[in-house]
Amino acid sequence: MKLFEPFRIRNIILKNRIVRSATYEKMATVDGFVTDNLIKLYKELALGGSGLIITGNVLVHISGYSAPQQMCIHNDYYIDGLKKLVKTVHEHDGKIVIQLVHGGRQCFPFLLGGKEPIAPSAVYDPSIKVMPREMTNDEIWEVIYAFASAARRALEAGFDGIQLHGAHGYLISSFLSPHTNKRQDYWGGDEERRFHFVEEIYNAIKKEAGEDFPVMIKMNADDFLPEGLRIDEALRIAKKLEYLGFAAIEVSGGMYESKGKTARMKIDSVDKEAYFKEYSIRFKEVCSIPIMLVGGIRTRSVAEGLLNDGYADLISMSRPLVREPDLPNKFKEGKETSDCISCNGCMRFLKIDYVRCTKI
Ligand SMILES: Cc1cc2nc3c(=O)[nH]c(=O)nc-3n(C[C@H](O)[C@H](O)[C@H](O)COP(=O)(O)O)c2cc1C
Repeated sequence: MKLFEPFRIRNIILKNRIVRSATYEKMATVDGFVTDNLIKLYKELALGGSGLIITGNVLVHISGYSAPQQMCIHNDYYIDGLKKLVKTVHEHDGKIVIQLVHGGRQCFPFLLGGKEPIAPSAVYDPSIKVMPREMTNDEIWEVIYAFASAARRALEAGFDGIQLHGAHGYLISSFLSPHTNKRQDYWGGDEERRFHFVEEIYNAIKKEAGEDFPVMIKMNADDFLPEGLRIDEALRIAKKLEYLGFAAIEVSGGMYESKGKTARMKIDSVDKEAYFKEYSIRFKEVCSIPIMLVGGIRTRSVAEGLLNDGYADLISMSRPLVREPDLPNKFKEGKETSDCISCNGCMRFLKIDYVRCTKI
């Protein structure tokens, strides 16, 4: 099966085409350090057979703190703990990429010491009911350098690469989106200028972490909002990302305020699976770098079909691996469908405690 053929992203050799999509675990300490519980989970994931593991979103700058007990990387103090996480995965035959995030306008003020979140523009977020503050030019550069320093720390910790969280309405996504970026300066005003933020982050990372460290991105194909990013602009962005040197793109969609578009519920038949596949095939048409597809993939034959029919190069999953961290091994042994019922209990449980399937 193609699903179990090795695959290469730059210098990273994956043993198969299955990716654990970034999944926030809420398992770090309150100040963002790696815990034994995280090590245990990543050991299970590595033993479970995923070709690539992408960490839950890891914070690069304190002004973007969007998720309690998320892992942090905004200071050198975090490197030792992250090293242990990487070592665990490598010792169990896995590959691991760190997802870097700044929460932007989707940060609750209570996580920011009562301050308002920062964003490209002051565009009210109805989902968290907060008006963010427009970032100054200096603040934008500070965050760009924070991404670069985080990348350097990730390299030191031994990660195989990084993935920028450029999807779901967080800071990078909100700079790319015409709905949230209303600036009229170097950082916004037209498509070209909305791209500058991610471009400068990429350039700063390359200076800080070197040319060989693979940089990937997860991005929206569609924000599902009237003035949001749409597929045609997303494809032009993807081409520019490839030209810059990005190593791979994971195709996703939605922001907090587009409600339920990212992790859709009730994926109870094969025709509801892979709900972003009509987008990923468009990415495949315009890009030659690897395209990962995430969103509602539950069945082995669907995954295999997506690869064979050219919808994607890699199959990415989040909720199914919360339920069964060893799903890749089970698929290999012949299991056809994940036990995940896409109820989003794992997401709701985060309000109470760490990520876990509530149906087991
Ligand atoms: C509990 C939970 C946590 C998530 N955390 C992240 C995250 O940290 N970064 C990210 O890019 N996406 C995150 N997502 C979105 C998933 O990576 C994925 O895009 C989405 O769930 C759809 O894929 P699935 O149907 O395989 O779950 C999360 C989803 C869930 C359910």
